[in-house]
Amino acid sequence: MSERKIIGKMLYTQEDITKRAKEIAAEIDRDYEGEELILLGTLKGSIPWFTDILKYTTADTKIDFITASSYGSSMTSSGIVKITFDPQINMYNKHVLIIEDIIDTGNTLKYLKAKLEERGPKSVKVCAMLNKEPRRVADLHAEYVGFEIDDLFVIGYGLDYDQRFRGLPYISYLEPSDVESL
Ligand code: PRP
Repeated sequence: MSERKIIGKMLYTQEDITKRAKEIAAEIDRDYEGEELILLGTLKGSIPWFTDILKYTTADTKIDFITASSYGSSMTSSGIVKITFDPQINMYNKHVLIIEDIIDTGNTLKYLKAKLEERGPKSVKVCAMLNKEPRRVADLHAEYVGFEIDDLFVIGYGLDYDQRFRGLPYISYLEPSDVESL
């Protein structure tokens, strides 16, 4: 396999992410012991982190996915969110854990949680790979967080820049000078 050039400035390596995913999966195992659990991945960004959590947890899981799009400027979500792909799985009286790549303003998840609560689940919690707390607008708390990050433009491990770089096996961030050479 040919050497892959690192895009942007490295933040977390595959090893860092795997280690955190295993730690969080162990917490999930403890918290949901003896319970059925629906892992609900948000498309598209959560895919790599979702598969890590799915792989490492030993909980009795079922899976489904949801897609939300938010309207407003392209750099920040507006709080006006629409579900564009709706999960079909029955959530009534079940524990649901939303697996998210990143929480920024929190608007998307606040909306999603409220909509999912209407389906009568036993609980709805959040497991986010990254939490950008400095950018939070909505009153939203994630029960499981991989890494707390500053207000950086992050790519890789599901995160995109104009739909590119989701497949990078690490998380990095872009500075204006990096963007010029992409
Ligand atoms: C990203 C991310 C969250 C949301 C976070 O999704 O996956 O869902 O933005 O932003 P917020 O906390 O400010 O609401 P995006 O709409 O970029 O879709 P993607 O998963 O397809 O990249």
